[in-house]
Order: sequence, then structure tokens, then C-alpha cells
Amino acid sequence: MANTVTLNNGHKMPVIGLGTWQATPEQTHRAVKIALEVGYRHVDTAFAYGNEEAIGAALQEHFKEGKLKREDVFITTKLWMTHMKKDDVPINLSESLRRLKLDYVDLYLVHAPMGFKNRGDWTIFPADEHGKSELESVNLIETWRAMEDLLDSGKVRAIGVSNFNSEQIDLIVQAARHQPVTNQVECNAYFPQEKLEEFCEKRNIRLTAYSPLGSPGRPGHLINEGSRVLLEETTLQDIGRKYGKTPAQVLLRNLIQRGIFVIPKSTSPQRIKENFEVFDFTLTEDDMNKIRQLQTNERMLKFHFAADHPEYPFNIPY
Ligand code: A2P
Repeated sequence: MANTVTLNNGHKMPVIGLGTWQATPEQTHRAVKIALEVGYRHVDTAFAYGNEEAIGAALQEHFKEGKLKREDVFITTKLWMTHMKKDDVPINLSESLRRLKLDYVDLYLVHAPMGFKNRGDWTIFPADEHGKSELESVNLIETWRAMEDLLDSGKVRAIGVSNFNSEQIDLIVQAARHQPVTNQVECNAYFPQEKLEEFCEKRNIRLTAYSPLGSPGRPGHLINEGSRVLLEETTLQDIGRKYGKTPAQVLLRNLIQRGIFVIPKSTSPQRIKENFEVFDFTLTEDDMNKIRQLQTNERMLKFHFAADHPEYPFNIPY
């Protein structure tokens, strides 16, 4: 696979993946087909995104047309918060595999370090009659042991976490038979996660950046009035002009040069292509420093629906 980085388990993971959060099944199906044509070999999804079936269908079409083989692509999905108990973990994976029409995924992540009530009917956001989330405390080590069992079973090729803070990472690292390969978190020029990155790097865990473009398409209630738009920063336009590149390409290149995996979401054919054209230029140290100055260190995606959770990860700086 081209443009890959070797993980701490020896497996290779493509540095760019197609992000699919908030893409409908129809959009996802089309986006995955386009992305594979353009050269992407990595697709990031999650049980909770509701588009695994569309990805499965697009992959099957590609395989049947003889364009790619299963081993040519890297597929990531995530254990949802309703299935953190040890017996529920394999059930959630089996359902994801069924939807994806795959017999293994390349990477399986614990979506967040928090539990939700499992109603047994795949409700994603269980809430009581007042709209309050039905949260459940979880034993993260128990969840991790179940993830390790999945790795041993061969149904997943690598395991990792998402939205974990440094304390939660260390809890896992200290108990693990198999170390997490990545922590997938919000990471972009406004919120560069330098401390978490350094912390994870010392433990041989790489970051994967979600919202690498600053999540301009996030739901309206998550956008503060008057907040700046990362893709519109003149710094990025100025740097991009030197290389004939767009602000989005500069942002992605910046993260890749920091050694961080990126999963930009797009459903537009032109932008899917644009986001992949980041391997033919190199930012200078001066460019990187200028981008560094954009940091506001303000998180955009705060999992507000779980802010009362005892394991809520974002109450400490990193
Ligand atoms: P669209 O799907 O219409 O392309 P992030 O990955 O940071 O969450 O950003 C995803 C959002 O950014 C989506 O709303 C997506 O919209 C938009 N987007 C993706 N690629 C680009 C790009 N190259 N230029 C501008 N906007 C983009």
C-alpha cells in the first residue's frame, strides 16, 4: 500500500483515510467508490455513523469488478458506547462485519471511553423521557480485554482507541497484552493536540486526526456564533499559494508531516480528489511554525451529550 506508516504491531496503515462521519449511506457509497478510484486505500467509519452497509456494498462492487482485493484496502470501524461490556464487544463487531460484508477489519477502535445503556435494539443514543442520555459507567480494562480477544480471533487486525485522554491511555497501556496502535482524536491547526501527541508518541501510539479541516460541516448547534473558520485562514491561503495548493491541502500536509494519520471527510468528488493530492509538496519549518500559531486550543467536538459521564475524557487538559 502506498503512503503508509508502520504501526506498533508491524502492520501498515495508509496515512490518509476517507472520513465518513455525517455522510448518508447514498453519499458514502458514492464517496467510497470515487475515493478508491482516486487512490485512497483507507476508509474510516463507525457503527454509530450508520453507513457501514453502504461501504460494504461499494467495496464488494470494487472487488467484483476486479479492481482491488480485500488486502489492498484498510478498513477502520469503531465499537459503539452501548457495547462496552465484555460480552457486548464481540456482538457489536459481528454486526459491523455483517454490515461491511467483511470477515475482518483492519482496525477496530473503542469509539469513546464512556458507556451508554444497551437497550438490545441498537439504539445509538439512548435517552430517557426528558431527553437525558442514559449513561453507564464502564470498566475500560474489561472493554480492552475484549478488544484483545477480538485481535486474537483474527476478526480484527489491529486495535486502538478514540477520544481517550492521557490518563485513560495509561490505564490501557499498563494493563494491555496488546497495545493500542492509535488514539483517534479531534486534531487540526486550531486544536493541534501537541501534548497528547507527545504523550502517545512516548508510548509508541500514533494519533489519528479527525476533523483535520476544522469540521466545517459539523451540526449547527456545535458552531459558536462568530467562531473563525479554519479553511478561511489567510495564513493557509498564503502558504498554499507558494505551492499551488489549497488551504485544505496545507492543513492535511501539516498533520502528515507531524506524523499524524488524517481522515478528512468529503462527499464531493472534486474535494475527495483534492484531499488526496498532498504527497507532492513539503512544508518548510517556517510554514509549519506559522500554522502552529493558528492554535486556539479550543475543542470543537465536545461530546456534550455525555458531559456528565464519570469517564468523560475532556475535563483534563489532554
Ligand atoms: P463536503 O463533504 O461537502 O466536501 P473534517 O474532515 O475536518 O470534519 O471536514 C469535513 C467537512 O469539510 C465536510 O463538511 C466537507 O464537506 C468539507 N470539506 C472536505 N474537504 C474539503 C476541501 N478540500 N475544501 C473545503 N471543504 C472541504
